[in-house]
Amino acid sequence: MTEQKSTSAPAPYPGIFLTFEGIDGVGKTTQVQLLAKWIREELGREAITTFEPGDTLLGRSIRTLLLNPEPTAAPVSARAEALLYAADRAQHVHEVILPGLKRGAVVISDRYIDSSLAYQAGGRELSSEQILDMSRLATGDVWPVRTYLLDMSVEQSHRRVAQVRGEQPDRLEEESASFHERTRQAFLKLAQKNPERYLVIDATQSIEQIQAQLRDDVRKLVEQ
Ligand code: TYD
Repeated sequence: MTEQKSTSAPAPYPGIFLTFEGIDGVGKTTQVQLLAKWIREELGREAITTFEPGDTLLGRSIRTLLLNPEPTAAPVSARAEALLYAADRAQHVHEVILPGLKRGAVVISDRYIDSSLAYQAGGRELSSEQILDMSRLATGDVWPVRTYLLDMSVEQSHRRVAQVRGEQPDRLEEESASFHERTRQAFLKLAQKNPERYLVIDATQSIEQIQAQLRDDVRKLVEQ
């Protein structure tokens, strides 16, 4: 998988950009909210929580096109899908992320470029390089200083999604299980390739244990 930009160069803005990644159901959203609250209360800094896809007005429409398409619409092609995620990201950086960073805020995004690399690359049609090029164009090369990968097995994440929805976990059909497993492995590979940016966290730990790890790391980043 593609090498990404080194984060050793100083960021051209006073804020701190953090992202969370992982397959569905690993508890990103809870951790993002708790971390932001702690940053505001304990570090006395502005913290903005945001997400992809869909945290701008334009993005909300794109999210609907991607995740709740018209039932009669033809399947979205791999290229159109990747470009729609990139368009959402372009608007997200322009409207939310960069203004926050320029103001000196800690901006925390639930998913970013790595989600496109993990979910959209690896199929037969588009390479990691192509997905990365699209995201670079979309973002003007704005990279997080840290990416937290919440990692757990596909089985466990599936059970958790069912639990949150108050449902019995149904059997993961093979196709879906192998898709999620591929995505999980893609994230782990990205983490391996970018050790200076990534922190991999065992998402089977308690909420408090995960928060403690995150807070330790954020404190260091803020004091740097
Ligand atoms: P969402 O309901 O926000 O799920 P989650 O809580 O797991 O983030 O749905 C986002 C879905 O979009 C998720 O399944 C991953 C997918 N996605 C991509 O395929 N590519 C991307 O670039 C992004 C940002 C998300």
